[in-house]
Amino acid sequence: MKKKITLICLSIFLCTATFAQKKETPLYKDAKQPIEKRVDDLLSRMTLEEKVMQLNQFTLGRNDNANNMADPVNDIPAEIGSLIYFSSNPDLRNQVQKKAMEKSRLGIPVLFGYDVIHGYRTVYPISLAQACSWNPELVKQACAVAAQEARMSGVDWTFSPMIDVARDGRWGRVSEGYGEDPYTNAVFGVASVQGYQGDDLSDGKKVAACLKHYIGYGASEAGRDYVYTEISRQTLWDTYMPPYEAGVKAGAVTLMSSFNDINGTPGTANHYILTEILKERWQHDGFVVSDWGAIQQLRSQGVAKDKKEAAMKAFNAGVEMDMMNQCYDNHLAELVKEGKVSEELLNDAVKRVLRVKFRLGLFETPYTPASKEKERFLLPQSLKIAEQLAEESVVMLKNNNNALPLTGVSKVAVVGPMAKSNWHLLGSWRAQGKAEDAVTVFAGLENEFKNKIQLLYAQGCDFDGEDKSGFDEALTAAKSADAVIVCLGEKAQWSGENASRSTLSLPQIQEDLVTELKKAGKPVILLLSSGRPLELTRLEKLSNAMLQIWQPGIAGGNPIAGILSGRINPSGKLSITFPYATGQIPIYYNHRQSARTHQGKYQDIPSTPLYEFGYGLSYTTFEYSDIKLSAHKVKRGDKLIAEVTVKNTGNMDGAEVVHWFVRDPVSTISRPVKELKHFEKQMIKKGETKTFSFEVDLIQDFGFIDGEGKRFLESGEYYVLVKDKKVMVEVE
Ligand code: BGC
Repeated sequence: MKKKITLICLSIFLCTATFAQKKETPLYKDAKQPIEKRVDDLLSRMTLEEKVMQLNQFTLGRNDNANNMADPVNDIPAEIGSLIYFSSNPDLRNQVQKKAMEKSRLGIPVLFGYDVIHGYRTVYPISLAQACSWNPELVKQACAVAAQEARMSGVDWTFSPMIDVARDGRWGRVSEGYGEDPYTNAVFGVASVQGYQGDDLSDGKKVAACLKHYIGYGASEAGRDYVYTEISRQTLWDTYMPPYEAGVKAGAVTLMSSFNDINGTPGTANHYILTEILKERWQHDGFVVSDWGAIQQLRSQGVAKDKKEAAMKAFNAGVEMDMMNQCYDNHLAELVKEGKVSEELLNDAVKRVLRVKFRLGLFETPYTPASKEKERFLLPQSLKIAEQLAEESVVMLKNNNNALPLTGVSKVAVVGPMAKSNWHLLGSWRAQGKAEDAVTVFAGLENEFKNKIQLLYAQGCDFDGEDKSGFDEALTAAKSADAVIVCLGEKAQWSGENASRSTLSLPQIQEDLVTELKKAGKPVILLLSSGRPLELTRLEKLSNAMLQIWQPGIAGGNPIAGILSGRINPSGKLSITFPYATGQIPIYYNHRQSARTHQGKYQDIPSTPLYEFGYGLSYTTFEYSDIKLSAHKVKRGDKLIAEVTVKNTGNMDGAEVVHWFVRDPVSTISRPVKELKHFEKQMIKKGETKTFSFEVDLIQDFGFIDGEGKRFLESGEYYVLVKDKKVMVEVE
């Protein structure tokens, strides 16, 4: 009898326990449930205030970005949606996350974001340089490494890639994107989204990507930052939208709205762009974060009288998360109560943020597991990718009489402010990059030429200023050497955000140094490190060879030295035009045709650039065949394949990039003189011939897009172009 009673009691206890457990484990915490169900369930439990808090982003940790100085928020609410995480130690994150998981009513994890732009600790070349590699697969690998380093350090989300087409080198942020061409930005943007996000955002090694700055930020007037942009609907669609459309299709889970005012409606308050296109037409189901302070800046831009109105405008336009504005946390609930923001829109916004958190697996794994720095940073494979990318992004601009590679020399003078600099090689947005990780050009040369070539060093001058006291020492070194390598360029802080310049020339002192060194009568080889295209017209005349090395990141020194020695054959090609003079800006390859092609030129300078888009020399020579087409007349829906063969006719193995352009000479809307539609890079051994092909998608490649984003393909003649070859196709 006693036994029976005990059994009954036990089953009652078990039933109650299971019941209690069921009650305590809400659906949204059940990892086996589909994400949409979990999102709905969680949303249904949230109060208005809890919903609003999910839409705010504050900062955590020490912030050393000079443009975004803010006191770290000490008393972070447990219900906060997101934090920008400035530390590389996950402990602080885990502490804050613990508060969110345990102290907030619903235990919603915080999303930690950070600017991982060209690497996290393993800093890669700047994006503009990466594009010169024309190797998106390598860029994808680099982004995967950056994602892994970041996620293992407590970062779930990167504010990258920047895919703003940029045609004005005065704009400092030109360094952060993939250059002047929409297609190039689209291809590299997609590669980086794939690298960052992989196939499974929740595997502990991936981060959410963020396409930015949506949209048209690169069109900033006169190359100044944060200012007005005048972008016609036609240009919006054919120039600025394609990379974003491609990035959204590739699955980027977030976007950042842009600072710029677009034809009178700032990006942050732009309903057409944020809602009609992104959410309605492209069906994006992730969220949009504002840029830093951009919501409150709607006041400075003259479209909101106060922070409350700014919050209303940004939110109703389609910005779901408020980055460092304190507009949503202070005003959104009130706006909902007043009926100025609909509850439906609020719910939709919260769902978007939660969806991303679920996809990242944050509910299951809110904390970052502890790991040693050496387990996540600067791993041999990561460094190999960094070296490879630095190597492939170097562009040889000039090589008169085979001044390079250096042969038959026993003593070389290495001069210039960049020669021994490590910090400036990292460029802007170096995330957790450290100067001491970087191999300087001089160190690279020492490694390369040890026991072979004697190196002399003299700094010569600083990056700017007027102090020429080091010129004599530099000239003496140059005189006693067989060749002079002059390492010039820009300081890291001269490009990036809030770093516009009025000229693309290097400071006068650097040009003067080269003029002085020229007096030695030795071959002058310039290494140019910058975050923007440069005006090199005068320096070009003073030099025998020039290598554009950009800001190559931590691993540039060795491959650059390898190019100088001839161990490596340079293969980079420009992703942006280098003008003859800054006054030519805007100058870009895919411009529309003038009414008078024989007139309308500058009277004082040539009207062509010094180095055009796609330009870059090699130590070997390549011979192109004529373009072969699978058909010369096609109908819609037909397949069309174009091919060229390229023979390496020189004495060294080398990689060649083939750029495929199209041209529509007569159309309802005038079309650019040529547009890049495909590219391919292949290694070609000396004497060998390789075939390159382009499968033309008639609608996508020959067609055009109008000011409403509709694509058309008209009957008529089209051209396919490669280098100086072109062939005509007729579309019926
Ligand atoms: C920049 C963004 C960046 C954000 C967060 C802003 O000032 O424009 O590109 O992602 O700060 O650091």
